[in-house]
Amino acid sequence: MTLTPTRPSSAGEKPHQVPSPLSAPEGTDSGVIAWVESIADLTTPDAVVWCDGSAAEFDRLTRLMVASGTLTQVNPEHRPYSFVARSHPADVARVESRTFICSENEADAGPTNNWRDPKEMRATFDEIFAGSMRGRTMYVIPFSMGPLGSPLARLGVQVTDSPYVVASMGIMTRMGAAALRLIDSNTEWVRAVHSVGAPLEVGQEDVAWPCNETKYISHFPETREIWSYGSAYGGNALLAKKSFALRIASVMAHDEGWLAEHMLILKLTNPRGRVFHLVAAFPSACGKTNLAMLKPSIPGWKVETIGDDIAWLAPGADGRLRAINPEAGFFGVAPGTGPVTNQTAMDTMWGNTIFTNVAIRDDGDVWWEGMTEKTPDHLIDWQGNDWTPASGTPAAHPNSRFTVAAAQCPTISDDWDDPEGVVVDAIVFGGRRATNVPLVVEARDWEHGVYIGATVSSERTAAAEGTVGELRRDPFAMMPFCGYNMADHWSHWLEMGKTLRANGTVPRIFQVNWFRKGDDGSWLWPGFAENSRVLEWILDRVDGRTPAVDSPLGWKPAEGGVNLEGTDVTEKDWEQLFELDQDAWLAELDDTEQFFESFGDRLPEAMTRQLADIRRRVKLSREN
Ligand code: GTP
Ligand code: SPV
Ligand code: MN
Repeated sequence: MTLTPTRPSSAGEKPHQVPSPLSAPEGTDSGVIAWVESIADLTTPDAVVWCDGSAAEFDRLTRLMVASGTLTQVNPEHRPYSFVARSHPADVARVESRTFICSENEADAGPTNNWRDPKEMRATFDEIFAGSMRGRTMYVIPFSMGPLGSPLARLGVQVTDSPYVVASMGIMTRMGAAALRLIDSNTEWVRAVHSVGAPLEVGQEDVAWPCNETKYISHFPETREIWSYGSAYGGNALLAKKSFALRIASVMAHDEGWLAEHMLILKLTNPRGRVFHLVAAFPSACGKTNLAMLKPSIPGWKVETIGDDIAWLAPGADGRLRAINPEAGFFGVAPGTGPVTNQTAMDTMWGNTIFTNVAIRDDGDVWWEGMTEKTPDHLIDWQGNDWTPASGTPAAHPNSRFTVAAAQCPTISDDWDDPEGVVVDAIVFGGRRATNVPLVVEARDWEHGVYIGATVSSERTAAAEGTVGELRRDPFAMMPFCGYNMADHWSHWLEMGKTLRANGTVPRIFQVNWFRKGDDGSWLWPGFAENSRVLEWILDRVDGRTPAVDSPLGWKPAEGGVNLEGTDVTEKDWEQLFELDQDAWLAELDDTEQFFESFGDRLPEAMTRQLADIRRRVKLSREN
């Protein structure tokens, strides 16, 4: 970390100073320096700090934030080097309504994205970013998404006026000097500008969580740029994550012939010692982190973690689809995480963890709903207030999170940072569906699999209680994360299938649903560790070891195909997990047709063909 000398402000009237770019580490690419200088000229911070990603830097920053009230240190006897941040109560989650794709042509953003004219957006930013870092330090964070130097990795530089973002990005990415050294005049790198939008006047006291009511999370796909204003929370501010690794990367991937997806990556070894890798796309808060850290309940299987949120997939030299986890850490949902559901996550966050919006116990450790069986009698809640079970409000915010290095995960796989990536054997799509979608089916072929991905949807849980809930379409679990026209995304998947087939093998595609409910509203499937039984079936299919039965929705397990020994899943539950209600399905297919129509002539013909085929099969099953 180098503190720069400052020079007089070119902006004139304010006594603040803009920094000199001369303080960049020796050997820094002149393009990076020029860009940093241009952002500093616009945002007029008091100082510029080039981050090196060292432990000493993390220590300095966290001390600074403890002193300023942004962080509270967790009692180190319970959890060393760990901190709790409390955000502004209006800055607690991703803001999809303020997320924009600023492509040159509106049609390239597609009907599922908020589009803004890039020229207009830039004009807005020239205004709101002017002086937005006044009174603050601008940090320069170079980072690599994916193992340093991997052919699948991509580089980026984010500038931010939030030390919380720096510390978090240090955990979530390969951040610092080594990444900066990889950038030269021939390297493509993503530019990411972030400001909390809370400049300080001389003598003005800072607040614990500076942010702005006005928020913009904007992406310029053609120039590979991200501009984020007004929020310091999660995907809004850690721009390497959803903004780069999904929205911008999906565009790069479309242009270059690979895929950037909202997927976990797992390594599984079967009782005979055969190793498989599986990727799975579920919408936000639908169980990716939990599945990524699965402790199998069936004997003989070994499950190891590679990634819990994002996968970059590309054909390798041998023509087979390979995956890397571009991230280096987990930003996981805290509530519901406990010894019963996810002991591996609990073990991962033994220390060196930043918690955001969780509660603090009287002994100085953290707490959230679902962490322990017994609720403590007294806590400090996520807003810093005294809390007791009688308070009637959640002690931890429902979207409270833990930020921790993947390397600390006890089940992290030895090939998790293999620069060549891992070979993908199976692709899984899932969602939160109380009705209609069966526990598991295998797609008939790649094209059918793409249709399954394109029609992923999740029910709004509260509204769905007792009635058939409103469908929230979330194709490929990428609705908020695809940086280009969603229909083009499906075409790209279809093309990828052709490329893979021409080279030899395509991974098999499956659909799962852990969330189907019985008539009484309770889960029909026990979930969590028991999901290993479904993964066993999936990989036995890949291994050619288990038969399947044709159904209108795809290949389903033959009788006894999924090992239910030791569960309390009854025969009736099992039937209900696969029950096909024809009327409900025909209604869903009508809805899908409407959704598809919104893409006009960008919709690949294969999707219309698949829809017609499934409609025919569902109708046929009624006649039988
Ligand atoms: P993001 O980080 O937002 O992308 O979420 P995620 O997809 O990683 O979801 P996560 O694993 O954090 O789980 C979200 C919620 O779903 C938690 O409350 C879990 O307890 C719950 N959950 C996860 N797996 C299962 C399951 O198999 N069955 C049931 N019933 N609930 C589950
Ligand atoms: C998600 O919402 O899918 C997340 C959390 O993983 S965030 O990083 O905030 O996008
Ligand atoms: Mn996610």
